[in-house]
Amino acid sequence: MSKRFADRIIMVTGGSSGLGRAICIALGSEGASVLALGRNEEALANTQAEVEKAGGKCLAIPFDLARYGEFPRLFEALKQQVPHLDGIVHAAGELNRCAPMQHVEATKFRRMLDINLTAPNMLTQALFPLLEQAESASVIFTSCDMAEEAQANWHGYGLAKAALVQSAAMWQLEHPQKAMRFNAVNPGRMRTELMKRAFPGLDPITIPEPDGALEAFLYLLSDAAIDIRGGHFNAKELIQTSSQF
Ligand SMILES: NC(=O)c1ccc[n+]([C@@H]2O[C@H](COP(=O)([O-])OP(=O)(O)OC[C@H]3O[C@@H](n4cnc5c(N)ncnc54)[C@H](OP(=O)(O)O)[C@@H]3O)[C@@H](O)[C@H]2O)c1
Repeated sequence: MSKRFADRIIMVTGGSSGLGRAICIALGSEGASVLALGRNEEALANTQAEVEKAGGKCLAIPFDLARYGEFPRLFEALKQQVPHLDGIVHAAGELNRCAPMQHVEATKFRRMLDINLTAPNMLTQALFPLLEQAESASVIFTSCDMAEEAQANWHGYGLAKAALVQSAAMWQLEHPQKAMRFNAVNPGRMRTELMKRAFPGLDPITIPEPDGALEAFLYLLSDAAIDIRGGHFNAKELIQTSSQF
């Protein structure tokens, strides 16, 4: 097995579950030191054990992304423990019950923007000095189908995800230097806790595991994607294109 991420230090938010957890374990199997962030400490400990079993190192970071005031403290703590950050995968996400906008409460609407849009942007901002210390840093925002096409009933979540695509492009414009790249990826529908909440009537077995989208994230984190900057990609299409090189 190739070790694309030997000596790389990569933070994955949402590392306690679903896509984020799968990315942590895959990174570990290719030699990375992973910083897995989430709120559920037991689930994070499980991810940590799996990353170590796969051959990587893992630091579990129990942290609530709604607490923006704590981001500087998180940076200060990390600065003591890691010399640089080679990447951040923003895989954490939250989803309320989908409803027509006519019935969405303002607090719930705002919560969707807080966790899915503000948090990844402000976390990138807080950890930026560590990204700057890397030889080459890759930041990935996780979008969804609503970033490609409007769909009914997904308001706060869908708007936040669509705006993440612009976030990646804007960060890139503000930091055109070669050593920094910012992209967004739509992983497509995956069998995870979030998906089960979104589609309670759907038989989960009909939906693919997050593993199908994994390689798109690994590719964008790897040196092979060093020239891919400020874009938005569908995971399956990106995997197909990248395997042609
Ligand atoms: N599943 C799909 O079909 C699908 C499709 C398109 C896009 N996505 C996106 O893919 C990403 C991964 O989601 P998933 O499907 O893997 O769902 P998941 O299994 O429910 O994972 C969501 C993750 O987000 C973390 N999280 C949520 N709120 C948080 C908070 N306030 N602070 C810290 N961490 C928080 C959770 O950790 P804790 O519970 O430990 O806090 C969990 O690790 C999300 O961005 C989602 O929007 C999913």
